[in-house]
Amino acid sequence: MLQPGQIHQGSGARRVTMEEVNPTNKGKKLAHPASFAPRIFADTADLDEIKPLMEGGIINGVTTNPSLMKRAGATSWDGAMKMMKEIVKYMAPYPVSLELTELTPEKMIKQAKVLAGIGPNVVVKVPTGGYQAIDKNLDPFTGLKVINALWRNDIKVNATLIFNTTQAFWAANAGASYVSPFLGRLADYMYKHDHVEREPGNSLNFLEDHKAPAGGPERTANSAYVASGGARRDSGVRLINEIVSVFNNYRIKTEVLAASFRNAVQLSECLLAGADILTVPASLLMGVADHPLTNEGMVAFVEDSKVFEK
Ligand code: E4P
Repeated sequence: MLQPGQIHQGSGARRVTMEEVNPTNKGKKLAHPASFAPRIFADTADLDEIKPLMEGGIINGVTTNPSLMKRAGATSWDGAMKMMKEIVKYMAPYPVSLELTELTPEKMIKQAKVLAGIGPNVVVKVPTGGYQAIDKNLDPFTGLKVINALWRNDIKVNATLIFNTTQAFWAANAGASYVSPFLGRLADYMYKHDHVEREPGNSLNFLEDHKAPAGGPERTANSAYVASGGARRDSGVRLINEIVSVFNNYRIKTEVLAASFRNAVQLSECLLAGADILTVPASLLMGVADHPLTNEGMVAFVEDSKVFEK
């Protein structure tokens, strides 16, 4: 587990340069104690999962992706559009990330404008890279070009599928309002390729046994560097900490949206690491108010309070 002493100390200073998440209402004297708290989003396209979380005051945003849309029952683009419109309307004015499915800049920008037209709270999710994995004739900079074009068109972007600090930096440089590092998938990958003899490190540590792709070693550097030189379950959180540190160094206001959570420990670690937003599956969020010892304590309090019943 990432220890508090390993955390970049500047993240708090960075956070107060951002927009207040819980501003104090006009005319009220009691300032909100967590005005610069991180934002918590639900990582789901299922409105039935979103509603209780909104009603409970647990979330203030939603992220979706094509896999989540399919899981929620969308079987066509029309069905997906209907689903996205319902979520955007329900969540307004809170942000909802909707992902592009087109693969060339011209079509992506056109699709982004359609999605952004659904509502002012839409954030367009753009895959940062991976285009040549789909078709080697595609431009490797497709994502960065689209992010930049959307920024120039005043459309907020969430740059997705981020696995190293380099990708996060370039997405921010292109104009992304949010970057989404997938800490859970990275932790899964690193755990699978564990080498206990290696010390946890940072993204400058190279995974030596990772096969170089066709582009040569310089391309490997841009795709296979990961946030932890040592393969550890906390490697995903180290990535969050590293991106927050780099953004802090350069006063980059792009928000670090930690994604792909697997367990509650990762939530605590991301809060320590200074993530601006956590997007979390509904199943994990439903349990944030509970703990086995809380349950035990409640049972005892309720039992003892019976003595006060008239
Ligand atoms: C983020 O926005 C993604 O939708 C999501 O967190 C990916 O999570 P997964 O790795 O569980 O698919």
